[in-house]
Amino acid sequence: MKFQHFYEDKKIKWRTKEKFMNATMSLEKVKHYPVMLNQILSIISPQHGGSFIDCTFGGGGYSEAILKFPKTNVFALDRDSLTKKYASALKQKYPKRFSFFQEKFSNLDKLVNIPINPRAILFDLGLSSFQLSDKERGFSFDSKNCLNMEMGINESSTYDVINTLEKEYLGTIIKILGEEKDGKIIANKIDKYRRKKPINNSHELASIINEAKKNNKHYKRNPATKTFQAIRIFVNKELTELILGLIAATKLLSNGGFLVVVSFHSLEDKIVKKFFNLYSNLKSNPSRYVPIKENKYSLFKQVSKKPIMSDINEIKKNIRSRSAKLRYAIRNDNSFVYPKEFKNKFINYFQLEEG
Ligand SMILES: C[S@@+](CC[C@H](N)C(=O)[O-])C[C@H]1O[C@@H](n2cnc3c(N)ncnc32)[C@H](O)[C@@H]1O
Repeated sequence: MKFQHFYEDKKIKWRTKEKFMNATMSLEKVKHYPVMLNQILSIISPQHGGSFIDCTFGGGGYSEAILKFPKTNVFALDRDSLTKKYASALKQKYPKRFSFFQEKFSNLDKLVNIPINPRAILFDLGLSSFQLSDKERGFSFDSKNCLNMEMGINESSTYDVINTLEKEYLGTIIKILGEEKDGKIIANKIDKYRRKKPINNSHELASIINEAKKNNKHYKRNPATKTFQAIRIFVNKELTELILGLIAATKLLSNGGFLVVVSFHSLEDKIVKKFFNLYSNLKSNPSRYVPIKENKYSLFKQVSKKPIMSDINEIKKNIRSRSAKLRYAIRNDNSFVYPKEFKNKFINYFQLEEG
């Protein structure tokens, strides 16, 4: 990591027990709507039974909907320890058919007791409403409690990244991972500020970014949105996770298994689309003279052509679903070949998130 140290201040403790309890209590009131649930159920058909892997358990919306069908088993994972309480509630209801692991989905294929033949593997990327509304997590612009933005099982902290990462590197992250054209200007402003005092919370950070963008008044969203996205992706290594997660899931699926992904921003969707296209029959056929069935490198026999989007009724109920894109692919019976080509395609993201 390219960190610089301007001062001796050590990381603040972002969560006292008391604060934690207050935040958790208020979260009881937050409602989470599983995005495009009906569309997903009609793709994966749990009414036929089988094993399913929910890689992003969150509040358990998908898992619970699947478990309502008899003869289904759900293996769920989430990197966030706070999801364990929702998982325990579901475990009580379905003790034999539900298991939960607190783990990152990049490690999916290393988990023990994973079923050999899952009917579908689901990814609903990004943050849950619980995480977004929890002021102690620092994902929202008005959080004055901490500078956190960590989803769980993290290698680096947001506090260190914001306060000590090299200015040039910070600018690159904001530009590429936030798709923010003013990355350099924002990084300069952050750097100037932190030389005087450390940045301690998300509200403080959002104000610095707003100041850096004050000449550009044409915003529908908060001017800090893209920078927050960039920092969050970097701290949680979200793109590396996605790439490794897709590879792990493809390894585990056998003929006829569904790989279903819901993404929320263009960087994620680009990766999913490329992965599916590269490993589908249509796009990865090395030559038009090689018959498709002899193309041993293809891994999917069918890929959704266009992303499926939420309908207006869903968007009215849950505004977050507005930017969701659902794509799916169906595995063929070719054995898994490690997709070096794919990893190479996204090497820049790996390197950027590695620091
Ligand atoms: C949008 S929420 C999922 C909501 C869920 N589908 C539901 O209906 O309640 C995304 C969840 O994925 C988790 N997550 C994100 N990246 C992850 C990763 N790399 N490994 C495991 N869990 C991850 C987050 O902690 C969050 O709880």
